Amino acid sequence: TTFLQKAVLGAGLALVGLSATADTLKIGTEGGYPPWSMVDASGKVSGFDADVGNALCKELNADCRFVVQAFDSLIPSLDANRFDLIISGMSVTPERAKRISFSIPYAVEDAIFVLPKDSALVNADSPEAIFKGLAGKTVGVQGGTTHGDYLRAKAGDLNIKNYDTLDQMQIDLDAGRLDATFADLTSQSKFLHKVGDEHFALSKLIIKGSSAPETLGYGIGVGINKNNAELKEKVDAALCKLINDGTIKTSSEKWFDI
Ligand code: ARG
Repeated sequence: TTFLQKAVLGAGLALVGLSATADTLKIGTEGGYPPWSMVDASGKVSGFDADVGNALCKELNADCRFVVQAFDSLIPSLDANRFDLIISGMSVTPERAKRISFSIPYAVEDAIFVLPKDSALVNADSPEAIFKGLAGKTVGVQGGTTHGDYLRAKAGDLNIKNYDTLDQMQIDLDAGRLDATFADLTSQSKFLHKVGDEHFALSKLIIKGSSAPETLGYGIGVGINKNNAELKEKVDAALCKLINDGTIKTSSEKWFDI
């Protein structure tokens, strides 16, 4: 083959490559967030968000590729086009919506504290009572989440400690280095199922997402680059279908046992 033939062949292959990537949807997720997204030893992503992502890809006739990275790096990476979508239990907040687009919500989420079982705050019946009891104490949250924002806006003078992963946060709680943790109800329940209720308990008080939407958000959505209005339209249409035909409900019943 001549140089020219090789060049043409190369360009052709590059085109094939391009069209192949056009049919792949890359999805950013955290992967350490049971039951939303977990990564097993082989690198496979599972959980409710993985189900939603796979179902979306199927609707949109695309191959799914998950990109796993720290929660607070997901929005910067979407901005930098490292992937096409964020599906990571991400709440739709006004602050985030300045930077990225969100799909229609595919889930709702409330927040809750995990406390030492013998803490009087387990039975507190108002957010104010919990904040008062935690004054001067240290509460763990996952960095970059709505939970830190909520506490900063509402809770007064408690110390907020940020963790990259829930795992690290829970190790510190277990070791007595935290007085409480604050996170999504679903992930907190999963943690208690894992460690048992011998030492820790969920607060009786659930902080409804809808009680503070400006920080806790308006449900959970898929994040999409603001420049990609066409993809947002497709994702919304696909989600509508998956909500209406019961796919999302079936999958949420499979992963959320509360
Ligand atoms: N819903 C909360 C938020 O949007 C927490 C989400 C954490 N998600 C994760 N994959 N770690 O901030």
